[in-house]
Amino acid sequence: MPERTLIIVKPDGVQRHLTGKIISRFESKGLKLVGAKFIQISPELAQKHYAVHKDKPFFEGVVKYLSSGPSMVMVWEAEGVIAMARKMMGATFGFDAEPGTIRGDFGCSMRYNLVHGSDSPASAEEEINLYFTDEELVDYDLSGAAWLYGTNN
Ligand code: TYD
Ligand code: MG
Repeated sequence: MPERTLIIVKPDGVQRHLTGKIISRFESKGLKLVGAKFIQISPELAQKHYAVHKDKPFFEGVVKYLSSGPSMVMVWEAEGVIAMARKMMGATFGFDAEPGTIRGDFGCSMRYNLVHGSDSPASAEEEINLYFTDEELVDYDLSGAAWLYGTNN
């Protein structure tokens, strides 16, 4: 199976009506959507999500942020999707992120950076399991795969 990553349009993205635009970036890139849910992440789940940062000074703030309103939580699939999606998101802080990236084009805040993406295969697996059961991830063929990935000849 090709690589999978967890992508979240975070509460600021939803409130700023950017959900569709952000999803559209990943969709146009040719990635395959295999799971999605629109939920308000609880503070407990946000703590688990950001557990690697539990000793950082921004931990409490980032947990509050992620649980402050509804989010669009998704799993996208493609060879190399983890690194690809991170590139498409841009640097962590909006004011640093390059134009052409999601964070670079749509925001200039430090913490309110619109989108989350897993940063390694291990964190992708862990994060996907935090939000989705196996049954919630849809197994199907993309009809345009040969054109998207250049495997027709
Ligand atoms: P991090 O995992 O370093 O960034 P990324 O989202 O690019 O993987 O940090 C998690 C989130 O925490 C980040 O999206 C924004 C927030 N954050 C702060 O609020 N202050 C900080 O100093 C850092 C490094 C992150
Ligand atoms: Mg991170």
